[in-house]
Amino acid sequence: MITNRTYAVEPWSVRETALNLDLLAQSESVFALSNGHIGWRGNLDEGEPHGLPGSYLNGVYELHPLPYAEAGYGYPESGQTIINVTNGKLLRLLVDDEPFDLRYGRLVKHERTLDLRRGVLERACEWTSPAGKTVRVRSTRLVSLTQRAIAAVQYEVEPVDSRTRVVIQSELVANESLPDPKGDPRTAKALQSPLEPEEHLAIGPRLRLVHRTRRSGLRVAVAADHELDAPGETTTSSESDTDVARLTITSVLEPGQRLRVRKTVAHGWSSARSRPAMSDQVEAALAAAAHSGWDGLEGEQRAYLDDFWARADVEVHGDEEIQQAVRFALFHVLQAGARAEQRAIPAKGLTGSGYDGHVFWDTEMFVLPVLTYTEPRAVAEALRWRRDTLPAARDRAAQLGLRGAAFPWRTIDGSEGSAYWPAGTAAFHVAADIAHAAVRYTAATGDTDFERDTALELLVETARLWRSLGHHDHHGVFHIDGVTGPDEYSAITDDNTYTNLMARANLLAAADVCERHPDEANRLGVDDEESANWRDAAESVNIPYNDEIGVHEQHSGFTRHQRWDFAATAADQYPLLLHFPYFDLYRKQVIKQSDLVLAMYTCGNWFDAHCDEDQIARNFAYYEPLTVRDSSLSACCQAVVAAQTGHLRLAYDYAAEAALMDLADLEHNTRDGLHIASLAGTWMALVAGFGGTRRFGDSLRFTPRLPEKFSRLAFRLQFRGRCLSVEIDADKATYTLLNGSPLTIHHHGSAVALNGDGPVTLAIPAPKWRPTPEQPPHRRPNAR
Ligand code: BGC
Repeated sequence: MITNRTYAVEPWSVRETALNLDLLAQSESVFALSNGHIGWRGNLDEGEPHGLPGSYLNGVYELHPLPYAEAGYGYPESGQTIINVTNGKLLRLLVDDEPFDLRYGRLVKHERTLDLRRGVLERACEWTSPAGKTVRVRSTRLVSLTQRAIAAVQYEVEPVDSRTRVVIQSELVANESLPDPKGDPRTAKALQSPLEPEEHLAIGPRLRLVHRTRRSGLRVAVAADHELDAPGETTTSSESDTDVARLTITSVLEPGQRLRVRKTVAHGWSSARSRPAMSDQVEAALAAAAHSGWDGLEGEQRAYLDDFWARADVEVHGDEEIQQAVRFALFHVLQAGARAEQRAIPAKGLTGSGYDGHVFWDTEMFVLPVLTYTEPRAVAEALRWRRDTLPAARDRAAQLGLRGAAFPWRTIDGSEGSAYWPAGTAAFHVAADIAHAAVRYTAATGDTDFERDTALELLVETARLWRSLGHHDHHGVFHIDGVTGPDEYSAITDDNTYTNLMARANLLAAADVCERHPDEANRLGVDDEESANWRDAAESVNIPYNDEIGVHEQHSGFTRHQRWDFAATAADQYPLLLHFPYFDLYRKQVIKQSDLVLAMYTCGNWFDAHCDEDQIARNFAYYEPLTVRDSSLSACCQAVVAAQTGHLRLAYDYAAEAALMDLADLEHNTRDGLHIASLAGTWMALVAGFGGTRRFGDSLRFTPRLPEKFSRLAFRLQFRGRCLSVEIDADKATYTLLNGSPLTIHHHGSAVALNGDGPVTLAIPAPKWRPTPEQPPHRRPNAR
């Protein structure tokens, strides 16, 4: 397990001070570099040893059969899995006649630093070979945020005490052998050597490989160019074969002399472009990168990130670990979405092959909220990808006997990639989550073009889904029966409150947007009657409530179910899904992840209008002892509502859990890739939790309150063309409009006009005291 000491706690970097081979796979995820298009895991430059080699291109996947023991109507039959594409990171090293392999010899020093401001991964090591030759190796790696197709490595070798012959083999390798995949052998087969060779080339320092996936038919081209800085006599040669292209550089170095290789790697893929076109595309990308040169690439990277941090940084005083973690989180969230450009943002970003590289609702409800207020352009791109997948979502709705669009529970290419299972197939809330993200983005940016060309269609097709999925009973009440909400320990339930409230907002937003854009709405066949039906359904939607105990129900009948026997559940029986049958989880009161509690955050406006703070606190206190947090998506939501209800200490512990999910490998699966939703949730816990930030229509409301351990929290938000700074101390909050036109916000219920003539400071009222809710035994968050 990663311990607190694995990475030095520093404000702007994640530095590993010693190499621990047992933690290689985890550190490969933590040190992954990506721009949302290319993903390079933090594998060692020499390729081996490795935990999981990983080079990914967003959208490149292979198809595999989805097997069932017993088939059923409408069961998806084909799944998609992200594949490891051609690896351009490799620089193998031979020191005299021994391979530089850290499993052998003596590692004098090994340090890797992910620099969050420069956007590079640096490595410095000193190694003595088994034969006693000592060399220093330094490398700097980047995946360019400004040149989408480009990644680059600078690699330097220097002998320490005697003349040494050094050979560097810089390679492109396709179809790398991977550790044995777990799971279905048919899937494993699809992933063994997924790339069929089409072209290989090595001319001097230029290398190129073009391949094509067997079933999904995607063409992948990777090319590399090199620049050498070599003292004395150096020879080079290059060669290629179907799956390998290699430049070999040989030099004899005196102590203190340094051989430096700068390798630039260009990536491209397409389902349509021809092989010559793909080859030209990657060559052109190399030419553009050469025009910038290494220094140019590094400079552009720094400038891009300076700009990002100026808009997005979150400062935490009083807890250095959380300070580091939130910047690490923002960096990875940015990397996941920055240049995805009309592609999905997968649950693991491009940091590992976990969850088969699929995108889930994590994107719209966890990742996009952060990007909406920090890097809004990326949100529009991610939602345009959803819009582009509407044909598949319409087909799926039709197959299920529904209208509109049924977006997949998990996917890469837009078609349903989840085999039938109740918590996926019936998790229709993903439709409302997408709609919610489109409304959030439009309200926070005022981007009316997007509203017209993207949001409208998404809203209309999802509203149609809800209207056909739900029904009015004989009292006229609208019910949505047989669906699964966010909590996967309940399934196929009636009137899941989260789903109903999100669907309500979806239906109303669809009707509103059609009113604003009548011509476009007409083109989609929406008439007055249809939008009136949406409003009817929304306004009469059932929100189940248990009068006896005075709480909203997660779904109809939930509070009547038997409670899970927590007292008889041992600490090592979590996560419950690995130790108990789903049928039993489904029929008991036990919650995998925030559901009703999440609704109180995402549909806060409805709760504000229909109940008071005491009701919200009562709901929170009811669901806390039932929520086991077997999903990494839960802690951040609980942090937000704990802060809202004045449980600041508890909120702090939850925020820390979300923040350290990967840096401390809390769920022991960081090796498969980072938990991008939980990373995004770190921002959510701080900004929406302690900052109390909520959007209300096209304005913002704040109810800031800090936990005792924080002496200060400061963040910035992009909002409708403005940049707003919020600085919170224990007893006061300061709001400054850094640029843009005047804005009225709310601070703890009072309207505050910000007109750009300087900061406005307001006192923070003390929260109402309430007893701290209990958690299930063994599931209390770690107290910090
Ligand atoms: C959670 C889902 C989530 C998925 C991917 C599951 O464990 O229950 O809500 O979408 O992981 O992160």
